[in-house]
Amino acid sequence: MTLNKYQINTLVFVLTISVAIFSCNKPNNNTGNSSNASNDTTHYILWIPPTLTGTTFNLNLANSTKQLNTGAATATMGYNGNSFWGPTLIMNKGDNVQINVTNNLADQTTVHWHGFHIPAIMDGGPHQIINAGAAWSPNFQVKNNAGTYWYHPHLHQKTQEQLTKGAGGFIIVKDPIESALALPRTYGTDDIPLILTSRRYNTDNSFDLTTTYGDYLLANGTPNAEISLPKQFVRFRILNAEIERSYNVGFSDDRTFYVIGNDGGLLNAPVQVTRVKLAVGERVEILVNLGNDVVGSSLDMKSFNSGQTFGYPGGEPASSGNFGSLLNNIDFPVLHIKIAATTSNPITTLPATLANNVYWTNADVTNSRTITITGGQAGSAFTFDNNTYGFTTINQNIQLNAIEKWTIVNNNIFGHSFHVHDVQFKIISRSLGTVAAYESGWKDVVYIPLGESVSVIAKFDDFSSGVNPYMYHCHFANHEDGGLMGQFLVQ
Ligand code: C2O
Ligand code: CU
Repeated sequence: MTLNKYQINTLVFVLTISVAIFSCNKPNNNTGNSSNASNDTTHYILWIPPTLTGTTFNLNLANSTKQLNTGAATATMGYNGNSFWGPTLIMNKGDNVQINVTNNLADQTTVHWHGFHIPAIMDGGPHQIINAGAAWSPNFQVKNNAGTYWYHPHLHQKTQEQLTKGAGGFIIVKDPIESALALPRTYGTDDIPLILTSRRYNTDNSFDLTTTYGDYLLANGTPNAEISLPKQFVRFRILNAEIERSYNVGFSDDRTFYVIGNDGGLLNAPVQVTRVKLAVGERVEILVNLGNDVVGSSLDMKSFNSGQTFGYPGGEPASSGNFGSLLNNIDFPVLHIKIAATTSNPITTLPATLANNVYWTNADVTNSRTITITGGQAGSAFTFDNNTYGFTTINQNIQLNAIEKWTIVNNNIFGHSFHVHDVQFKIISRSLGTVAAYESGWKDVVYIPLGESVSVIAKFDDFSSGVNPYMYHCHFANHEDGGLMGQFLVQ
């Protein structure tokens, strides 16, 4: 086998990182904490996924292993030789891209381009199955705004397993509006991709593939992660890639920070916050000012998950069992940050304005529909409108170019994370309160708390098909696999 340029770059990168880990960390060369040594407080350097650029992207999903505990390595999956997760694909809006996905698993998979506005047949949902050993080569024009998107398996009833093992990756879209702004964008230096998730380990160190909540946080697949960041404005692109847990992100000193982007790209202006809630599948881009910190000092990015109202995923008080975990109902660190010297050409101010999005309003709506979360009683699976997911069932028919208002009704047991393929929507109302300013941009996932009805508006334009459906579903992988998913045609 000969290595292509990317593979060589990856190899060099992986070797460099390995050297960094082995030279900076504790004597036993362990790259992770132990499930039977949960008091391991050693920090490990945050893994930054390598990047792929251009208009042709080759992805290759395979089984792997990763040393996450003392003792046996953990069986994992990764794209392109990574031991967990995959490369970050960097695309330009307007480009026509070709992606070649090879499935080197012994099982089927699919790859969904989460958040992308593309034809249904290119979407990588449950219908675009890639058999073991086979390849799939979708192509599409990138129509999305600059922002943070992701790819992940979407094989029905296997999404939780493959995601838990580590299959997934970021997609960063660039466009001229974002590029013209004075924002941090040096990947891995002042522009940091951050995947938050957690895992529970079986006694043989394998991942528990069925649990709702993990016990140990993994940031980019790294336990007890630490990063050195320059003394200036730093951008994070945070993805909640959990099975079910929500994150309530803030900093250990409660400092203010700024939300600049939602799932579908930049907000019109930065929104100042001290906390931002992120449900499964949601992304947020934030700016935090480290310019007043002392070089050599440190702080933590944390998730403040204690004391949430019932229905908040991960707020359940149990510390074990399927609905409990060691991270439930507590405040816990997600990333240890050490302040390093300012870089040349740092970003030192916050832009006052970012974009000129014009959002849909009630006056634009041409059709409305209501989707109700049902089921879930006495251990049964959740459903939409009392219909469990059917591979050949079309649950909603939508006219091409319709501007639709969807109201998701949830008076049923627990909170959920609602995702719609094909479109970016605007959250128009929440029955129990106001729509937070930090979620006022374009979205493809919306958190639906227990007891609330949430309305969103989207336009279903550009792509139609009488045969290839798009999905809408709860992004909790266990709920989605359990049938809390429906299909719509646009035609
Ligand atoms: Cu992130 Cu239907 O998916
Ligand atoms: Cu759900």
